Amino acid sequence: MNVLVTGGAGFIGSHLVDRLIELGKNVIIIDNLSSGLKTNLNSSAIFYKMDIRSLNLKKVFQNHEIDSVFHFAAQIDIRKSLSEIEYEIDVNVKGSVNLIVNAAKYGVAETYFASSGGAIYGEQIEYPATEDHPTEPESPYGIDKLTIEKYLFCFKKLYGFNTSIFRFSNVYGPRQNPQSEAGVVSIFANRMLKDKKINIYGDGNQTRDFVYIRDVVDAMVEVYEQKTQGIFNISTGKEATVNEIFHILADELKYGREPIYLEARPGELLRSLLSHDKLKSATGWEPTRDMRTGLRETGEWFKENFK
Ligand SMILES: NC(=O)c1ccc[n+]([C@@H]2O[C@H](COP(=O)([O-])OP(=O)(O)OC[C@H]3O[C@@H](n4cnc5c(N)ncnc54)[C@H](O)[C@@H]3O)[C@@H](O)[C@H]2O)c1
Repeated sequence: MNVLVTGGAGFIGSHLVDRLIELGKNVIIIDNLSSGLKTNLNSSAIFYKMDIRSLNLKKVFQNHEIDSVFHFAAQIDIRKSLSEIEYEIDVNVKGSVNLIVNAAKYGVAETYFASSGGAIYGEQIEYPATEDHPTEPESPYGIDKLTIEKYLFCFKKLYGFNTSIFRFSNVYGPRQNPQSEAGVVSIFANRMLKDKKINIYGDGNQTRDFVYIRDVVDAMVEVYEQKTQGIFNISTGKEATVNEIFHILADELKYGREPIYLEARPGELLRSLLSHDKLKSATGWEPTRDMRTGLRETGEWFKENFK
């Protein structure tokens, strides 16, 4: 089986690549290394340093008979999606469509897409949000994730490939890039280890559904191996405040400073909590790592790798 993973040098993509290789798949990675790292690349994978917007993308499909595509490559910064909207649309819409068109043209059997529950549902009206929750994105990033979901279902009808959508909650864990604006856990861990001050925007009581990367990979592999199709939230179904995350990590990493509270940033969600009942019914998957274990493992990894 030849599996193409875009964004395979990034946080979530690289963990999935490792697991697919353990499962004996031939993995081909496309990544432009804009936020991904060479050190995340699995040496058993074939690597193309390439942009998903490239006209040369077709050569990857011509060189390898691709059976499955996991699409993770993206501009992931919600604030940048507002300040650099043309770049956002270029990568997250045009780049994704370029990939999907090639997948259809070269007879790919199945596609999997990294979407975002938090960004697509917007400020929720029901807690936890199921996959049927109204979609009211509050950023171009959310609109573009929803757009690509629609493209995939349209192309599924037109060209007959299978499609599954992963609507992640807030994924955290080893390899999450602390330089990006996306991951509060990695940003906190990195700054705590350097004994730098930490800003919290708002009162810190905003909540997120933090799901650990190892659980996320297990979930994606269940969907892939069981050939389950549809839209699935991948989440814990539990919420934690930013303050709680701060205090558990501070405890694990022996960080003595207090956070600095700044004005809340406009557009930031107050609560985000997603149900994973649909995925559990379809595949039996459930998250198994509690938050302290996940944060401890993440802290340990940052100690080794990000000093
Ligand atoms: N981390 C989360 O909590 C979360 C939540 C919801 C959705 N997602 C989605 O999951 C996917 C992976 O996110 P991540 O957290 O691993 O981010 P990441 O930044 O670590 O990974 C994205 C990868 O895509 C690559 N990339 C970016 N633009 C590219 C382009 N034009 N061409 C080729 N490669 C390009 C980057 O170099 C990077 O390796 C993204 O699509 C993201 O939107 C992540």
